[in-house]
Amino acid sequence: MAKLNNDNRKFLFEKYKKQIEIDPNLNRTVVSFQANKKENFYRWFKYKEGFSKRLIKYFLMKYHPSKGHILDPFAGVGSTLFSARELGWSTTGIELLPVGVFSFESRMASESVRLSNLKEEIDKFQSKFEVVENNVPRKINHIPITKSAFPEETENCLNRFLNYCDNIEDPNIKKLFEFSAFSILEEISYTRKDGQYLRWDHRANKSWGKTKFNKGKIYSFTESINKKFSQVYQDLQDGNGNDLFSQIEEKIVYEPSNILQGSSLELMPLFQDNLFDFVMTSPPYCNRYDYTRTYALELIFLGYNDEQIKQLRQEMLSCTVENKDKIEKLKKIYSKENKIKEFEKVISCYNSSEAMQEVNTVLNKLNELKMLNNSNIPRMVKNYFLEMAFIVFEMYRVLKHGGYSVMVNDNVRYGGQEIPVDLILTEFALKFGFNLEKIWTLPTGKGNSSQQMGNHGRSELRKCVYVWRKI
Ligand SMILES: C[S@@+](CC[C@H](N)C(=O)[O-])C[C@H]1O[C@@H](n2cnc3c(N)ncnc32)[C@H](O)[C@@H]1O
Repeated sequence: MAKLNNDNRKFLFEKYKKQIEIDPNLNRTVVSFQANKKENFYRWFKYKEGFSKRLIKYFLMKYHPSKGHILDPFAGVGSTLFSARELGWSTTGIELLPVGVFSFESRMASESVRLSNLKEEIDKFQSKFEVVENNVPRKINHIPITKSAFPEETENCLNRFLNYCDNIEDPNIKKLFEFSAFSILEEISYTRKDGQYLRWDHRANKSWGKTKFNKGKIYSFTESINKKFSQVYQDLQDGNGNDLFSQIEEKIVYEPSNILQGSSLELMPLFQDNLFDFVMTSPPYCNRYDYTRTYALELIFLGYNDEQIKQLRQEMLSCTVENKDKIEKLKKIYSKENKIKEFEKVISCYNSSEAMQEVNTVLNKLNELKMLNNSNIPRMVKNYFLEMAFIVFEMYRVLKHGGYSVMVNDNVRYGGQEIPVDLILTEFALKFGFNLEKIWTLPTGKGNSSQQMGNHGRSELRKCVYVWRKI
């Protein structure tokens, strides 16, 4: 096979290598969900993609110790927003998945709950739930990929619980109750979130493949919900020291925080220029991870049907092989806002990146040679970067001069070809006017980045945090 061209990617690496540096503080546990397990809210609902509090505070203190207004255009469950808020920042987030938005709203609701009332409702539930009639006007409606996910008895309890919640008067407690059930769906089901899909326990009689998967204990609904209630109650007690509202004068007053539900690709063009002091975010990685499948149980619990879930999948930043082109849609959005010149500027930035063109050509070639394990990988990669070019452009536009953008992302590899996401996105960022402050990489224990690049093919992929500044 003819050697596939790597010159433009190498050139980009040479250009930026002086600014790629290992930050020993950024070990995997600071960046990933691992570090969150002990943090109160995170143990309520395991959003595996979530940032840790430490990561956000670390970067804010490092680059912008004074308060301001922060944006996270891929807000997830709102980790950036809550952590920045604790440092006195105003916060705005955008999140497409209702899973993240519901979690954010539930955590907000938890701040307004009077603990004594919550305790009362939990006690009432524990004495009353078993005798509530099996009258279920509101119930979970399955989609094909979630059918039979729960043992029958568990599903009955879930449906009864949804109806029970409808009779709770205090809207914040109602939300926390629903959120508690939402948070246990995985452990009461036959499924486990696993990479790109839900993995099925053999007891569901649905397991595929050669090896029988056993996820371990499957909790009953009552056992699990009671465990969750005590966790939530305990954390609220510990977190607040006391009932927040029993000592009104000590109540912390936070700056406004809001999360917009929708796509950043559609919502960011509506923001005015120079609005934010800081952007801190982690977009989906270009790694085929499908959030709508991983969180399918949570989505049906929130009432989403198959059609709506498919639509969410298409609206996500292209990171799965199923995502189709969004370019016509983006053109319409920019035209409607009278911003067709901006639209063209982004397209031309994308087209003028030689490293990007090289990646596209190489992937198409590998596809022709049937060396990719899915023929839509070239389309996904092409569209991932195209859409990210719009995001980076908007991040630059909405930041104030002097403002920072901090982005967490991993490089990827397909068909043996490394795709330097950090370098290509940085190239876009610089074309739009950003200054590259640093590409911080996580320590790998395998030498520095230039050695890694030298061993291309066998190298460990960089996991990075890029810091750009609007000058
Ligand atoms: C890596 S996660 C970010 C997690 C977040 N840092 C947290 O702490 O929870 C990426 C997020 O981007 C969201 N997302 C994907 N496409 C989006 C889009 N077009 N607009 C807004 N959010 C999107 C996903 O649902 C996911 O929650």
